Amino acid sequence: QDQQQELISPECKELLISLPKERGWRTPNLYLYQHFWCQPKEIQAIISVQNHYNAENTDLIVATIPKSGTTWLKALSFAIVNRRNFAHNQKNHPLLTSNSHELVPFLEYKLFADYENIPDMSRFPRPLLLGTHMPINALPDSVMDLKCKIVYMVRNPFDTFVSIWHFMNKLRPEYLGPLSLEEAFDMYCRGAIGFGPYWDHMLGYWYESLRAPQKVLFLKYEEVKENTCFHLKKLAEFLGFPFSLEEEEGGAVEGIAKLCSFDKMKDLDVNKTGKGAITAGFENRDLFRKGEVGDWANLLTPLMVERLTDIMEEKLAGSGLTF
Ligand code: A3P
Repeated sequence: QDQQQELISPECKELLISLPKERGWRTPNLYLYQHFWCQPKEIQAIISVQNHYNAENTDLIVATIPKSGTTWLKALSFAIVNRRNFAHNQKNHPLLTSNSHELVPFLEYKLFADYENIPDMSRFPRPLLLGTHMPINALPDSVMDLKCKIVYMVRNPFDTFVSIWHFMNKLRPEYLGPLSLEEAFDMYCRGAIGFGPYWDHMLGYWYESLRAPQKVLFLKYEEVKENTCFHLKKLAEFLGFPFSLEEEEGGAVEGIAKLCSFDKMKDLDVNKTGKGAITAGFENRDLFRKGEVGDWANLLTPLMVERLTDIMEEKLAGSGLTF
């Protein structure tokens, strides 16, 4: 059924047969590919990325697990990198008329989604900002071997689950039948979530950020929310586009923070009525729900909180990564 739903190459169909599978969130099944769970079409795209994307030194990669602040981090990164051409207060700033996923395309959903049409990325203007949900170990060697940089945003796993839960309820096709909160939570806790287990995903980027801080910048959604300007400056420096004193005094940092803020972005026409920023079926408005820290308290039972707390404590033990 998975294979009939989507355009999958014969090689990928064959591969799927050999992979462990679980019930899916918005496709019939998730498959375990290279130690992470994925939908069939994503696996195919990831194989294309691995085979055909040759990174260049100046490429900048924005990496996350779904629902941990990707849309926001892409907007911040785009605004920083392109501010010489588009000042934050410019009336025609691209972020006012395009969703950030259009401006910072996903490797696996946009650029390499069609296995029959591989883009020639050497022709793209540089510097290139690209998005991915792929775990660090799955990225092509060129990304790790060259000087290109990766910025990763993690979000506390409780809010990330709640965000996914609401998102999936909007996207899950009717023919798949309902997925109860309990079942979804159990799948999440067992790691069976797109690009998960989440703990493996975050730890991969976390350890690399410790080993090579010039290569991977590790940001926490909650901290960026708490002090956006501070982290914006850090991000700009890391990406190689530091703010000058003049810019700081002129309000560029605050300006970008405001331009990319949840309230501002949610209210834009492109994000109220636009479609297809990530893939054809998506409504842009579904990418903006509450944008808060701690919304998990409205959904999770004490038992659920206890279970996920225990799992995270065990998985992150000794890593130095905490929430
Ligand atoms: P909630 O569902 O908790 O509201 P992603 O972009 O990775 O899909 O993550 C989506 C989550 O980020 C949603 O969380 C969404 O509301 C929130 N979000 C989107 N834009 C944001 C912004 N500019 N600032 C902060 N949070 C944002």
